Amino acid sequence: PGTGTGTAHGKVVLLGEHAVVYGAPALALPVPALGCRARVVRRDQGGHGLLGLRMVQVQPGMPSGVAPLPPHTQESSVPEGLRTLTETVLRDAGLRSLPGVDVLVESGVPPARGLGSSAACARSLALALDDLLGLQLSADAVFHRVQASEKAAHGRASGIDALATGSRRPVLLADGHISNPPVGADGWITVADSGSGAGTRKAVAMLRDGFARDPGSREVFLHRSATLTRAGLRDMERGRLEALGGRLTDCHTLLAGLGLTTGRTDRLVDAALRAGALGAKMSGGGLGGCVIALTATERAADALAAQLTAEHGARCWRAPLAKGERH
Ligand code: PMV
Repeated sequence: PGTGTGTAHGKVVLLGEHAVVYGAPALALPVPALGCRARVVRRDQGGHGLLGLRMVQVQPGMPSGVAPLPPHTQESSVPEGLRTLTETVLRDAGLRSLPGVDVLVESGVPPARGLGSSAACARSLALALDDLLGLQLSADAVFHRVQASEKAAHGRASGIDALATGSRRPVLLADGHISNPPVGADGWITVADSGSGAGTRKAVAMLRDGFARDPGSREVFLHRSATLTRAGLRDMERGRLEALGGRLTDCHTLLAGLGLTTGRTDRLVDAALRAGALGAKMSGGGLGGCVIALTATERAADALAAQLTAEHGARCWRAPLAKGERH
């Protein structure tokens, strides 16, 4: 009693980034190895509402949970979206007199790499508040809180991060519907950090301006992206890993054509393909960020990660594309 915790994790985009902002389908994969945890502590004296909010970036991976509780001060580096989220949840709880709470968010999701770190923080915080206050928020209500926080942080957000950071299985966002499509064969995704920040906000704005000047190019892009995503979805469902890999690489080429890749993300993709990956691409907003590569076995994923680290200095993580993975 008096404390609440919530967890979430990072994600990558398998297919369909950017096009999803315009309503085309996209497929995301959770990265459970990159965890985020929020802890909320009720303070019985000394004020009401959000009293202290602290965010700590921990080593990528699962937060240890041994970090000390926040000092009773507000820290200016806390993203505005999280502050708003906390205040909204407290208000919506309908408590006549708001309890005073201190919040600590420990994130093992590297920030600004297109890995969904902001959504993971917002989700873990929403769940921790829910836990503390016994609100029993529906999945939909949690999603909307996270999404509001994402919009405050990024402007336009499709919702794919808000969903995938709370799922254990691939997430498909298509025609306004969310689903967890089945996976027909076990595979592994290696995530390699290019070492430079993803420019999601800039990239989304860049495409919007380009499409405004040339609406025809927008239609071509959306059509190609949607075709690739649907085909890749069928490949994933039927366990055709090689074909799925080919779609990932084709998606990279499509995004590169829009100017969303960098020398470094292109080099990592080439290196992964030369090392035998079934396919590779940039993931998420682009203009830096992470690259993902598909392999059939865990061993191949480990070998690929070791090679990308040794030859390109890239930090790597992996995520299972697991057959029959259920909630
Ligand atoms: O947060 P990122 O960098 O993984 O980007 C998410 C994918 C985009 O399609 C570029 C943006 C969005 O809101 O869907």
